[in-house]
Amino acid sequence: MDFSEKFAREYGAPPVAVASAPGRLEVLGNHTDYNEGLVLSAAIALKTDFAILPVNGDICEVRSGGEKLSFPLSALDEPPGEDWVEYIKGVLIELRKRGFAPKAFKAAIQSDIPLSAGMSSSAALEISAALAIGAAFDFELPPEEWAKVGQGVENNHMGLQSGLLDQFSSLFGERNKLILCDFRDIRVVKTISMPDNLVFVVANSMVKHDLVDSDYNLRRESCERVVKTLRERKGMNISALRDVSTREIELARDALPLRDARIASHVTGENERVERGVAALESGDVATFGELMYESHASSINNFANSCPELDCLVELSKSIPGCLGARLSGGGFGGITIHLVEADEAERYRARLETAYFQRMGKETKALVCAIGAGASVEQYPGN
Ligand code: GLA
Repeated sequence: MDFSEKFAREYGAPPVAVASAPGRLEVLGNHTDYNEGLVLSAAIALKTDFAILPVNGDICEVRSGGEKLSFPLSALDEPPGEDWVEYIKGVLIELRKRGFAPKAFKAAIQSDIPLSAGMSSSAALEISAALAIGAAFDFELPPEEWAKVGQGVENNHMGLQSGLLDQFSSLFGERNKLILCDFRDIRVVKTISMPDNLVFVVANSMVKHDLVDSDYNLRRESCERVVKTLRERKGMNISALRDVSTREIELARDALPLRDARIASHVTGENERVERGVAALESGDVATFGELMYESHASSINNFANSCPELDCLVELSKSIPGCLGARLSGGGFGGITIHLVEADEAERYRARLETAYFQRMGKETKALVCAIGAGASVEQYPGN
């Protein structure tokens, strides 16, 4: 039975629209998005589906994995609770800011994206919900604005001062392609084909990655403080770390607390690595690209302090198992996932060996998977319903 049929069986009528939004992998460019920088990312072939049916009245009801939650539209402005349904309330609030008058619906969600692992299950939920609500009630926005709706949910409703990377990748990803995003201009600059003979293996550190409770927001504050200091004390005409090179951070060391300087140099270094990485991929130099992934992880350890022993262990192990060109933590960090660039022929063996070695070394299970690169978000409408 497919998802729409299941929906019809549970609610007694089929959905008017089903939106699907994938999770994402941050391939290179860590914590650059909210610094108006560059990121190379990809949508994954794991996604969240959101099916919707408008109803009369004030109550929205949403079912997911055997749970059924509901909320009245008239209580949207009450302080957020702890449930996943907050993401959907957040979407309605963000849409309302953009001129949408929230209306009631019944909805169902299904997803195969691991939760809280660093593959942006939350962005996939926000984007699938937003697109489904838009389709059900004929509310349209420019494509980039849908991404900002999702970011608004995180920033204004969930308390995470994240950038646009997750929502952007979920919307604009393309099958078998990496996308180069520029978060100054808020656009996809170009797509780069994933080399045929390589795949990403994703390994979860099994350290729960909850960015709202992590130092994510503090890191962002450090970045902003550095920009302010460079402007005020060094007279630099800049508006974000995007305008600064790693060399300039070194030259301004006297004006910056050591910790802030390190945090900033991770970001500037990542912007530079993305540029070098794109050039390497475009010239077929995948070995250099792999090295840049290792450099990125080392900078997470030494500069940005968003790694942890489990993530470091997975990256270290990658160097001793045949077939891997490079590995790094991916996403916010502080737990979550590592991504490993691996020869396709070796991928299955590599995945299994990584799981075993991780268990031997850390005494913890990891789930490693060969992660296909999928298409961006889409909506199916069923106008007859
Ligand atoms: C999380 C955030 C993104 C981005 C990454 C780090 O995934 O949601 O906006 O900042 O961390 O690159």
